[in-house]
Amino acid sequence: MKAPKRMCGKSDRLFNIAPLTAMKTIVLTLACLLVALHVHGVENTLEDSTNAAEDNPEADRLAMVEYYKKRFPNIELAEHNNGAYAIDAGKRAQWLEIEEFPPYEIDVDEGENLFSIPFANGKGYADCFANKGMGVKQNYPYFDADRSEVITLDYAINICRERHGEKPLDYLGEEMGYITAYMAFTSRGKYFNINIPDAGLPSYNKGKKFYYTRRGQLDFACSSCHIAAAGNLIRAEVLSASIGHATHWPTYRLKWDQLGGLHRRFIECNEQIGAEGLEPHGETYRNLEYFLTYMNNGMELNGPGSRK
Ligand code: HEC
Repeated sequence: MKAPKRMCGKSDRLFNIAPLTAMKTIVLTLACLLVALHVHGVENTLEDSTNAAEDNPEADRLAMVEYYKKRFPNIELAEHNNGAYAIDAGKRAQWLEIEEFPPYEIDVDEGENLFSIPFANGKGYADCFANKGMGVKQNYPYFDADRSEVITLDYAINICRERHGEKPLDYLGEEMGYITAYMAFTSRGKYFNINIPDAGLPSYNKGKKFYYTRRGQLDFACSSCHIAAAGNLIRAEVLSASIGHATHWPTYRLKWDQLGGLHRRFIECNEQIGAEGLEPHGETYRNLEYFLTYMNNGMELNGPGSRK
C-alpha cells in the first residue's frame, strides 16, 4: 500500500471556518485540484475511452477498472470496496479498530426487528421482494420496464410501504437506515450483478453524464475527484475509487453519528463543491446510482459499512 500524496496541505478545514477564510480556502482548494488534474492528465483519456463506447456499459466499466488498475498498481481491485482504507494504511488501521466493535451492529438488529413487524394490512416487507428480501441487494438498482424508471433498494422499500397503505419513510431518517442495514447485512459476500436492458440505457446514460459533468462554484465533476484525483488528499481525506463506491451502504459515519445511505453521501459531495444537494432517491440520483453501481459490478458487497 503506497502512502497517499498530500495534495493540498492547507485546505484541511474547508468548511468549518469564517466566510472570508472559507472563500480563500475554496480558491486554494480549487487551485490545488486543478494542479492535480493537470498533473495526472487522465480524466480526458478516460472520458474519451468511455465516450468512444457509447451505449456500452460493459466497455465503460472495463475502461474504469483498467484506469484504477494503472492508478493503483499495488492495490488489489477487490480491496476498493473498503474505499479510502484500501489506499491509506494509517487510516485503515484506525478503521479496523472501529470495525472490531462495529458501530452499526445494534442498528442491524433494530432493522431485523422493524423488517419483521407486519403492516396494518397484515402484509410485510418480505412480501415485496424476491427471496423475502434476504440477500437481494446485489441486484439493486434495476430498471423497471413497467414503471419505466430505476428502482433503488430504498425506493423499493417505500414503494412496498405505499402499496400496502403505509406512509413512505424519510430517506435520510433512522428507520430507513436500520432496514437497509439489515437487508445489506443479509447480502454480505454477494457480488454486484447489475443488469442494463436496452430500455434502461437512457437512465444509465443520464447517470453517467451526471458523473462526468462539472458543476457548482468549484466547477467539479464526480470524476474530477474520484477519477482524476483518486488517491490524493483533500482536506486530510484520501479520495476513494468509484469502483468501490456502492458496496457498503448504508454506512455508519462517525461524523453523522448514525447510519446514512449512498444518496446522503451524494448530497454531501455535491454541497462540498457548492452545487445543489438534490433530492435523495429522486430521478437524478437514482440514475446516478444505477451508473455507479454498474461500475461496481463484480465487487463484493460488504454493507453496512463504517467510515470516519
Ligand atoms: C471535491 C472533491 C469531490 C467531488 C467533486 C465529489 N466527491 Fe465524493 N467524496 C469526496 C471526499 C473527500 C470523500 C471522502 C473520502 C472518500 O471516501 O473518498 C468522498 C466520498 C464519496 C463516497 C463515499 C466513499 C466511501 O468509501 O464511503 C462516495 C460514494 C462519493 N464520494 C461519490 C461521489 C459522487 C457520485 C460525486 C459526484 C456527484 C462525488 N462523490 C463528488 C470528495 C468529492
